[in-house]
Amino acid sequence: MSDKKNITKQDTTEKIVSLSKRRGFIFQSSEIYGGLNGCYDYGPLGIELLKNIKEAWWKEMTYREDVEGLDASILMHPRVWEASGHVEHFSDPMVDCKECKARFREDLIEDAECGNKGYKGRKAVKCMEEGKFTEARSFNLMFKTFIGPLEDSSNAVFLRPETAQGIYVNFNNVRESSRQKVPFGIAQIGKAFRNEINTKNFLFRTREFEQMEMQFFVNPSEDEKWFEYWREQRMKWFEKYGMKEGKLKLHIHEKLAHYAKAAVDIEYEFPFGWGEIEGIHNRTDFDLKRHTEFSGKKLEYFDDQKKERYIPYVIETSAGASRSFFAFLCNAYDEEEVSKENSDGTSSSETRTVLHFHPALAPVKAAVFPLVNRDGMQEIAHGITDDLRKNFKVFYDDSGAVGRRYRRQDECGTPFCFTVDSDTLTDGSVTVRERDTMVQERISKDRITDYLNSKLKQN
Ligand code: GAP
Repeated sequence: MSDKKNITKQDTTEKIVSLSKRRGFIFQSSEIYGGLNGCYDYGPLGIELLKNIKEAWWKEMTYREDVEGLDASILMHPRVWEASGHVEHFSDPMVDCKECKARFREDLIEDAECGNKGYKGRKAVKCMEEGKFTEARSFNLMFKTFIGPLEDSSNAVFLRPETAQGIYVNFNNVRESSRQKVPFGIAQIGKAFRNEINTKNFLFRTREFEQMEMQFFVNPSEDEKWFEYWREQRMKWFEKYGMKEGKLKLHIHEKLAHYAKAAVDIEYEFPFGWGEIEGIHNRTDFDLKRHTEFSGKKLEYFDDQKKERYIPYVIETSAGASRSFFAFLCNAYDEEEVSKENSDGTSSSETRTVLHFHPALAPVKAAVFPLVNRDGMQEIAHGITDDLRKNFKVFYDDSGAVGRRYRRQDECGTPFCFTVDSDTLTDGSVTVRERDTMVQERISKDRITDYLNSKLKQN
């Protein structure tokens, strides 16, 4: 039996940040040196969750006839970013407060707070109205570095701000080597870097992050059909992995990027409000055309059945792996009032913090406990753990009361706990306790692998 507590939105973000550190999901980058703004490290549980999200995306997007995978390098020829328009357009308007020296994105000023510690909670827009800000300057978000020892402009390269361009420049390579015909797509997961003026809301806007992008090349006459198709597929993917009803919505863009004919965002309701987790864009033939122009190499397609030659249009699905991670974490977080058995036989209530991850995303799939550390129970539990570890990420725990061990696993989002007790010694059965319902049943210890496999498949 459980009851939802009334948690405020502000509390929730703080609690998630604190749980992330306590349980090893997310640490601040270079924490012992005071941290590096806008950069985070994924701890032991975080890396498992991130890996599972990326794997679920990769399976969904590439285990099909018409999508190929790619892993392009992060550093690319500098002309790529001229062709893509990033050198010219990829900038935000930046303003500085002359009084407190804080720096803001002018277009996001409505959401910003004054940087002066003495004015806690004051809206930055007020300072702007009072004329404290400098004129807006355009600030390019790409990180620049140099190839080789000479730091001159001819050796300058950029850390990619999106993975998409690595796909466009490989259009011919992938199509020819995989013998794909249009329509087909190329998918890629990888790091992207943006020198954001203001980082914000934990993992939501960071300077280093990961993207999961797919570019689907289509006949220009079929662009709208494929745009609808991918919009629907992507929404279904988030729902399939447990996003709660009402927590996702589509936001259709009226104002479009320089390359787009249509754009829609999938938004998630974070504790601080709605935010984009994925964009689906109709990028037309903009990118292939520009790379043809800048490289002198034709990026086009000849349909030998229709005897038609054209530059394909691109329907892009662009998700943030890091931002999806944060959304799945917020979506899973819950606090529930549950009853607890006391040692004197009475019961009382306590709050359990639980992460209701979809089992396929859960960082640890199962925990194994000996009820007490005697009569060979530890040896049996170790045997079960070793066996399960051939296929699953499993945690062994023999310290503290079983109730406390359950609570620890609830906070990690582990969907199943198996306990070896005195009955195991006589009939070979174990208790399995399910995270969400907290219901317990007994199964034979020889069936644990099948049980886990069926549960992970079922969901
Ligand atoms: N290739 C198109 C593109 O990059 P975008 O809307 O700029 O489009 C796509 O980015 C996704 O990448 C976003 O929906 C978001 O999930 C993620 N993303 C973008 N900037 C980010 C940042 N600074 N921190 C974390 N994730 C970010």
